[in-house]
This record gives sequence, C-alpha cells and structure tokens, in this order.
Amino acid sequence: MRITILGIESSCDDTSAAVIRDRLLLSNIISSQEVHRAYGGVVPELASRAHQQNIIPVVDQALKQAGVTADQIDAVAFTRGPGLLGSLLVGTSFVKGFALARGIPMIDINHLQAHVLVHFIQTATKTDSPSFPFLCLLVSGGHTQIVLVRDHLEMEIVGKTIDDAAGEAFDKCAKVMGLPYPGGPVVDKLAAEGDPFRFDFNKPRIPALDYSFSGLKTSFLYFLRDRLREDKEFIEKNRPDLAASLQRTIIEILMDKLQQAVDLTGVSEIALAGGVSANSGLRNAVTAASVEKGWKIHIPQFSFTTDNAAMIAITGFYKFQKNEFADQDITPLARMHF
Ligand code: KG4
Ligand code: ZN
Repeated sequence: MRITILGIESSCDDTSAAVIRDRLLLSNIISSQEVHRAYGGVVPELASRAHQQNIIPVVDQALKQAGVTADQIDAVAFTRGPGLLGSLLVGTSFVKGFALARGIPMIDINHLQAHVLVHFIQTATKTDSPSFPFLCLLVSGGHTQIVLVRDHLEMEIVGKTIDDAAGEAFDKCAKVMGLPYPGGPVVDKLAAEGDPFRFDFNKPRIPALDYSFSGLKTSFLYFLRDRLREDKEFIEKNRPDLAASLQRTIIEILMDKLQQAVDLTGVSEIALAGGVSANSGLRNAVTAASVEKGWKIHIPQFSFTTDNAAMIAITGFYKFQKNEFADQDITPLARMHF
C-alpha cells in the first residue's frame, strides 16, 4: 500500500505544509514570516499569530500542488517540539482538528530528528540517500550537534553546543556589524568577496565533541570595539574581510569536531542539515574533506536546509511504518530530546 502523509511544521517562524507519498515529495510549501525582520529576531507572540493566519492557506496550497484531496491523506504528521510553545500549539491544534475530522492518525515528530531525515526525501532529481551508520552535523539557529544516525529513528547525539548555536553565532556577530536579521545568509554573501585570513578570532577549547560559540561572539565584539576606537568607520571599510574571517572561524570550529567525531566513531559518511548547512563555506569545507579524506558526503538541497514540512512528512512516513501514532491529548513540548 502506498502511504500519503501531510506534514506540518510550525516550530519557529516558518509555516510549512508538505505532502509525501511513500518517500516521494509531492509538495513543500513554506511561508516565511517577514514580520520579525524589523525586530532583529523572532518575536514569539507575532510568530504564533502569523502561523494562525498562514496555516490554512499553506495546507490548501500544499494539497493543491500535490494534486491530492484531503480525503486521500492517510496520516498527518506535525512538529511536537522543540520550538516556541505558542507556535507549536498552532500546528498541533490544527492537526488535531484535521485528524479528528478525517478519522486519520496523527504522528508527532521531533523537529531535530526531522532535520536529519531530509536526506531520505526523494524528488525527481534526488533518489540517493545515506547508508547507516552516518554522522549528521545538524547546524541551525537553535541547535548545533553531531548526531550518530544508526537507523531512521535511532539517533544519538555525540556532541552538542554548550551555549550558542552556530546560526546564533552568525546572527549575533552579523548584528554587531550592523547587518540585518537573519545575519547568516548576509555574512555568507559578503564573505565571498572578503579575505578569510585577514583577521583571527578566538576559538574555544572544549573537551570531547561538544561545541561552544559564545566565546567567539565575545571575541568578535571586543575586537570590533577596540578597532572602532581607532577608526569609527572600521566596520564599513572591512565588512567583507570581517564576514569572511568570521565565517572561516565558525567553519573551522565545526569541521574540527566533525573530524574528531569521524576519528572516534570510525564513521566517515557525513551529512549536513539545518539552516547553516546552506552556508557556502561549510559546503565547500565538507566537499574538500570528501576529496582529501575520502568522506562520503550528503549536502541537502537549499529548500531542505531551513525549516520545512517535507522533513516532517518523511519522518512521519518512517513512524507510520512502525505504527507510532499520537493520541488526541498530546501536547507540544518547547524542549525535547531525541
Ligand atoms: O534551521 P533554521 O531555518 O531554523 C532553526 O531551526 O534555527 O536555521 C536558521 C539559521 C539562522 O541562524 C540563519 O542565520 C542560518 O540558519 N543560516 C545561515 C545561512 N542560511 C541560513 N547561516 C550561514 N550561512 C547561510 N547561508
Ligand atoms: Zn530547524
């Protein structure tokens, strides 16, 4: 039997709905909330209100684009957490109503697990997927972790950040440079024109496979404060070099622990996931490692890097096969582990 799943993602500032049939993606609609730009970060109350406005039209569009009707959906998968509670509530409530009205099961999804499973989505142009076990570097605005993936639903975090996420490091340092939110993509673009070895910033010394990015942020801030004392236009004059040097440092930190994870686990099949996996420098670094070190690598297509419902739907597909369903009394969780 072929399984058709509707996926819903509403954990942060993207409202998304996707339809997947078995592993083949039929649609993936993402509505990004622009309202937060003016505030320099996501405002939770505004996010949940925007989800409320967006969710029905987004689902409608996802069904239309997939060419399926609501009664052809076998189950509906949704992000249970982690994320903003108000935003998660909108998705969860919508899904409860949808499932109840149609008499179909609900499947609760861990957002982080879903980021990893984007690599199993099939599209017209992508049919390959990683083999087990593999390591996934999951880098987003809220999370930075190295995940050992043994099976679709069997994952272990072998390293994680003890403070800021890599995306946060990009965003916070970008803010200090006067760049708009989210800063990651802007830094990436600027870095292409800059010298990555012009400036040096502090790198953390953290044991084992864990990360830390708060020291880099402070080092960057103090560096700029000192230089601005000498020259008020220091940032304007050096933006591309600052961006390139910052990006190089973040990537070196990420790659260093990833290499250690490869050495420790003996696993050299590597996948990237999460918003920061859109970063061109990180993609280049992993590609270089595949050539130099023989790593087998999996880099997600851009539409699967940031938050999307396709990843929720594919995870739903694997949980459906194991009959892992949720009850109507399920509640969202702001914090959630694997
Ligand atoms: O996965 P995501 O969409 O949301 C979270 O779950 O956090 O990740 C968003 C993060 C932001 O911090 C954003 O600045 C970063 O991903 N990001 C990038 C790039 N594109 C998005 N960081 C560096 N370079 C990029 N090209
Ligand atoms: Zn995410």
